[in-house]
Amino acid sequence: MTESLASRLSQRHLLGTETLSAADALRILDTAEVFFDVSRRPVRKVPTLRGKTIVNVFFEASTRTRTSFEIAGKRLSADVVNFTSSGSSVSKGETLLDTVHNLEAMRPDVLVVRHSASGAPHYLSSRVRCGIVNAGDGTHEHPTQALLDAFTIRRAKGRIEGLTVTICGDVTHSRVARSNAWLLTALGARVRFAGPRTLMPSDTSSWPVEVFDRVEPALEGADVVMVLRIQRERLSGALLPSFREYSRTFGINERRLGLAAKDAIVMHPGPINRGVELDGAVADGPRSAVLDQVEAGVAVRMAVLYLLCAEPGQAAVS
Ligand code: NCD
Repeated sequence: MTESLASRLSQRHLLGTETLSAADALRILDTAEVFFDVSRRPVRKVPTLRGKTIVNVFFEASTRTRTSFEIAGKRLSADVVNFTSSGSSVSKGETLLDTVHNLEAMRPDVLVVRHSASGAPHYLSSRVRCGIVNAGDGTHEHPTQALLDAFTIRRAKGRIEGLTVTICGDVTHSRVARSNAWLLTALGARVRFAGPRTLMPSDTSSWPVEVFDRVEPALEGADVVMVLRIQRERLSGALLPSFREYSRTFGINERRLGLAAKDAIVMHPGPINRGVELDGAVADGPRSAVLDQVEAGVAVRMAVLYLLCAEPGQAAVS
């Protein structure tokens, strides 16, 4: 089984960007360019992963990530199965490991895992034979989101190196912020974090970022403004006075966007709390790359699945 999983990446799983080499990241982005074109053809399907099985194992809600992994697998001709914890035996008390061992007994090639516990995909990766792709673990990492963000930035700006990327909002609870900080700095960008102190991790000293507790100076000259969702479901206690107050002090609107570079793009991983972290007019405006990110998500996930589970010698597109 291991042989058929021979990876064109230097690793068998995609667990995070902190441990992803720049060379592997670039291989994924370059491969995604090929698949991006496939998705724009009239017939959006290639036989690359015929006979492979991918299971999406989602223990947390998802719209974009789950759908785009499913579409990605199907465009590669893999068989794709979706497992969601609601309606499964998880409600009868089955453990995560038992659930995954049972799914693995059906001999999938890759399990795409989303879980509310930080570290769940890492824990599983040392206990299964198939490949594991982290589709978001708690507040820890969301590597394919960062890769699709990098892909979107590279297409919009022609490069990543030397750009200033401001990531603003609820950094503490954001796996998107963490994965982007590691990936974008590895690819040569300067990353800034901006957010209220209550939503900023207490120790950011080991992160390759510059931290701001006001959004205006963080926006100055930024080439990319990446807005994070206020994670209502993960907010505990009185971390925020109110959403209205947050929007007044940190929300990204036309006026604040005026501080960024003239050709700055605005990104958001979705789902957007319109009028809280991002004004609707900006989200729908000419500088918004939000739907480009979603389109990129399919191509990047096709690249990840191809690189992790194609047979040796199998071309991306024949
Ligand atoms: C993100 C997630 O789930 O981490 N969404 C996504 O995958 N597109 C961001 C979020 O939920 O805020």
